[in-house]
Amino acid sequence: MRIVDLRSDTVTLPTSAMRQAMFDAELGDDVMGEDPTVNRLEALAAARLGKEAAVYVPSGTMANLICLLSHCARGEEAIMGHLAHTFLFEAGGSAAVGGIHPRTVPNQPDGTLDLGDVEAAIRDPNNPHYPPTRLICLENTHNRCSGAVLTPAYMAQARALADRHGLRIHLDGARVFNAAIALGVSAATVARDADSVSFCLSKGLSAPVGSLVCGSAEFVRQARRQRKVLGGGMRQAGVLAAAGIVALETMIDRLADDHANARRLAEGLTLLPGIMLDPARIQTNIVIWELAPDAPVAAEFAASMATYGVKVGVVGQRRIRAVTHYGINSDDIDQALVAASAVLKENHA
Ligand SMILES: Cc1ncc(COP(=O)(O)O)c(C=O)c1O
Repeated sequence: MRIVDLRSDTVTLPTSAMRQAMFDAELGDDVMGEDPTVNRLEALAAARLGKEAAVYVPSGTMANLICLLSHCARGEEAIMGHLAHTFLFEAGGSAAVGGIHPRTVPNQPDGTLDLGDVEAAIRDPNNPHYPPTRLICLENTHNRCSGAVLTPAYMAQARALADRHGLRIHLDGARVFNAAIALGVSAATVARDADSVSFCLSKGLSAPVGSLVCGSAEFVRQARRQRKVLGGGMRQAGVLAAAGIVALETMIDRLADDHANARRLAEGLTLLPGIMLDPARIQTNIVIWELAPDAPVAAEFAASMATYGVKVGVVGQRRIRAVTHYGINSDDIDQALVAASAVLKENHA
């Protein structure tokens, strides 16, 4: 039986072009700034994101943590969505390591933060009871909001708000190229209004390891120091960065296929009884749906899907997530739909 793994786009494996590039990579000591392949990847990433500089780091989690540590001192506050990956799934690193106080405001279903809520959450800097607000964190695409895309118009409004209050903006752009493809604009446009942006090579872009932190030259200088603090300086990291270069050069445009497959999945699922999903919400490669009260709970649903060779993620008591990616084709989507239909029928048998 073919296994269709829709748990995450992090399960993607490097392409043969990546493996060859890794084999051939010219290497040096990156902590000394002497790995030519890492240097090339960082220059390419900065250019793609429209920022002055970039630094290669081991993971998206470390990238976000480095950015928070670079923007905020101990006791300062970062505003973020209550469904932000940084808030939910990064082990509380900014508080644990940086003493940074997270202040959450509700994420709207479209991944945005209501800017009125953000403004209301900004502390009075003259009141000694409060931690000083330093940063607004946004996420594009938004993982827990079904891969929702933040528009450049929204980002511009957030920028104006941040400027009015002297705040900085960090963009968790783990899937920033999915956002760019969905919007039909460059990643630089998506990131334009952020002071810092992190993005991952090891999700839809299929590289095995690594993320980039991008920003001004001065910001990246500080980020490089924070990377060292966290033990993220990697010596001959060009052996990994080589795959990242191939990812940036060859794997971005094909993300449109993942988005089409996600739409196909969402439209098919909507037709099944027991599944609650608005396919119009699916803009990129993440499909999240609710199971109706008469359908199995999420853990049971996922276990039954696995017996048909389809792996999906459990993201709540009655909530399932499926993510399309390189290696998943339209036949796989059909296999997933047949499996879902069978699982829901079995439940009623
Ligand atoms: C939006 C978002 N940010 C950050 C991360 C963290 O990336 P990593 O798993 O490489 O640490 C993820 C991972 O899924 C993510 O979805």
